[in-house]
Amino acid sequence: MFKTEICKIFGIEYPIILGGMLWVGKADLVAAVSEAGGLGLLGAAGMTIEEIENELEKVARQTKKPFGVNIPLLRPDADEMIEASIRGGATAISTSAGNPKKYTRKIKDQGCRVLHVAANVSFARKSEDAGVDAVVAEGYEAGGHNGRDEITTMALVPQVAGAVDIPVVAAGGIADGRGLMAALALGAKGVQVGTRFLAADEAAAHPNYKEAVIQMPDNGTCVTGRTTVGPTRAIKNELTDMIIKAENEGAKPEELLEMIGEGRSAMAAIEGNCVKGTMYCGQIGGGIQGLKSAMEVINDMISEAASIIRSFQSLLQG
Ligand SMILES: Cc1cc2nc3c(=O)[nH]c(=O)nc-3n(C[C@H](O)[C@H](O)[C@H](O)COP(=O)(O)O)c2cc1C
Repeated sequence: MFKTEICKIFGIEYPIILGGMLWVGKADLVAAVSEAGGLGLLGAAGMTIEEIENELEKVARQTKKPFGVNIPLLRPDADEMIEASIRGGATAISTSAGNPKKYTRKIKDQGCRVLHVAANVSFARKSEDAGVDAVVAEGYEAGGHNGRDEITTMALVPQVAGAVDIPVVAAGGIADGRGLMAALALGAKGVQVGTRFLAADEAAAHPNYKEAVIQMPDNGTCVTGRTTVGPTRAIKNELTDMIIKAENEGAKPEELLEMIGEGRSAMAAIEGNCVKGTMYCGQIGGGIQGLKSAMEVINDMISEAASIIRSFQSLLQG
């Protein structure tokens, strides 16, 4: 069921990818998603090379199925990160925040697959030209860093699907079988999920952070950073209120960066400080009612999608 080109490219059962998540997407979650038939991606953005090696060793002990690593290309040691990932058994590299052109050939020559995250049509085309195997079209409702054009998943996915010949993976606002079916209907061949897996048993997020996702309402996130690091979606708290106030008062980018300082996302994800830390989270968090295992997330997504197909067939019969 649900075998698409994405399954063939990455050697997985279901076209469901765990998006790389800074601090949160560590070995246990990666292995659990891969074991459940999806593609687990290690969120390596905040990891040293040694940490990547250790995490991948842990993943390899827990699953024999394919897994990969997400590498933000802004990292000056992106080359070493890629080498460590391939040495550690990754068969897929997801690149984000940069141009994949310099890296794609090197990754593919080592037998690894590449997918790149793009938030508009032009970057999706550039990714295709760079030779990636698939492009992730990530909409503005997604958790974490968003594209500067602020295009929603609903509008972005069909436009990217119409613009490139490589398979498209939809990301942003997808947490269940309804989201999977919507993405496929829009022309995607798979989905990348972040926020739903952030509220999974195996996610490395602090319990306070997971609880904040479960408790948040539909309008529980906001976007800050437009004048500095780029739009960033996180759960509203004292920190986001302070940033928005300063932004509205016209604070200069350097003043904002100084005020925010370093390490805010680790403060929430690792220390559990949900007042002063940044809790990256997508808008779909408002619909997440409780924790599930990664296996339950995937199984529920697939069975719900299958029942939607059945209900659509009955629509055709009048
Ligand atoms: C807590 C968190 C951390 C994230 N960290 C990264 C990251 O390090 N690199 C990246 O490319 N995307 C990152 N993302 C984006 C996800 O990989 C994924 O594309 C996104 O969450 C999908 O949208 P959704 O949150 O609506 O499911 C992060 C998202 C969240 C929620």
